[in-house]
Amino acid sequence: MLLEQVTLRNFRNIRECSLSLPPGLSVFWGENGQGKTNFLESIYFLSYGRPLRGESLSRLIRWESSSLSASTRVRKGEVSLPLTITMKKGEKPEIRHGERRVNSLREHIGTLVSVAFQGEDGKLLFGPPPGRRKLLDQTCYLLKPSYGEELLDFLRALRQRNGLLKLVRDGEAGTGVLSSFDQVFLERAERVSRVRREVFGKLRRAFEEVMEEVGGGVRATLKEKFGFSPESFRGALDEDIRTGTTTVGPHRDDFSVFYGERDGRHYASTGQKRVLIIAFRLAQALLVEEEKKENPILLLDDLTSEVDASGRERVLEFVCRRGNQALVTTTDRKLIPERAVTGGVFQVCGGQIL
Ligand SMILES: Nc1ncnc2c1ncn2[C@@H]1O[C@H](COP(=O)(O)OP(=O)(O)O)[C@@H](O)[C@H]1O
Ligand SMILES: [Mg+2]
Repeated sequence: MLLEQVTLRNFRNIRECSLSLPPGLSVFWGENGQGKTNFLESIYFLSYGRPLRGESLSRLIRWESSSLSASTRVRKGEVSLPLTITMKKGEKPEIRHGERRVNSLREHIGTLVSVAFQGEDGKLLFGPPPGRRKLLDQTCYLLKPSYGEELLDFLRALRQRNGLLKLVRDGEAGTGVLSSFDQVFLERAERVSRVRREVFGKLRRAFEEVMEEVGGGVRATLKEKFGFSPESFRGALDEDIRTGTTTVGPHRDDFSVFYGERDGRHYASTGQKRVLIIAFRLAQALLVEEEKKENPILLLDDLTSEVDASGRERVLEFVCRRGNQALVTTTDRKLIPERAVTGGVFQVCGGQIL
């Protein structure tokens, strides 16, 4: 898919902008705090109706304003769809496909697919387990939008079960209630677990494939740490009652990122970790492409920081070869070789894109 034109009004520090975007890889360069990430975030917002940085939606509206609008045209083959999202302070985003109002995010997701890389992703991939679960869940959701509801159903059952366990532990409820509820819990847990395992296998293969090209000769892989099975769940019942919490389930799933023979979390350098994170995002994009037959837009924020010249070149070459439309930001234009720039070069200055 291709973005042909992006028009923004009062989006973060961008008061007004209308830009035709060429296909291929385009560079957005400028000093810190000028609006490079904000511009990328506008594309993410058009894709998913939410901010790129985990903040409240209303922060997206320019400080002096009471509403924002973002619109684009998404081209898929011969079809070009106008897409607009407007949002007033304190209200939900209003999405339109052409003239038609779209009532739910679920109906919208998939219309414009983008995959974003940003430095903050390091905290997800190499921080505590919930970050990695979030990355895995995002991937599941990209491939199977109904997964979002399955996950919510499971998390609701988990909260209820933990409540019940505390009652049983404190003698306020009998184990009978618990065993009938566990049927519901298990069904939901298995549904989530099944999707995660299937997607994880594909993600691992895509990640290895990307790393073969961008890893500079170092092999990398993902290793699952999924401890859940119906048997292990049932076997933990006494422990669950004793602690008043569910100790076995998909909510404890995790995985590690292996760099060479070792766990990258402990052994990879900052720059090596960055390459691993970029490769993880590119693997997500690759999967979407394979499964959905759609070439997602790549949003690569601050691609040049911390990554050395050869790492940068390998990543840029990979992106150019795949031919996705890619928006890359950098503070130093010289760090992106001319031959990698198959689209345009834009300077970002004080919220203006020149
Ligand atoms: N809602 C907003 N309204 C106006 N300015 C904003 C808003 N949110 C962030 N900013 C400003 O945007 C700038 C950051 O832009 P950003 O795109 O992150 O910079 P960079 O070019 O370094 O990526 C900061 O100066 C910040 O104060
Ligand atoms: Mg930035």
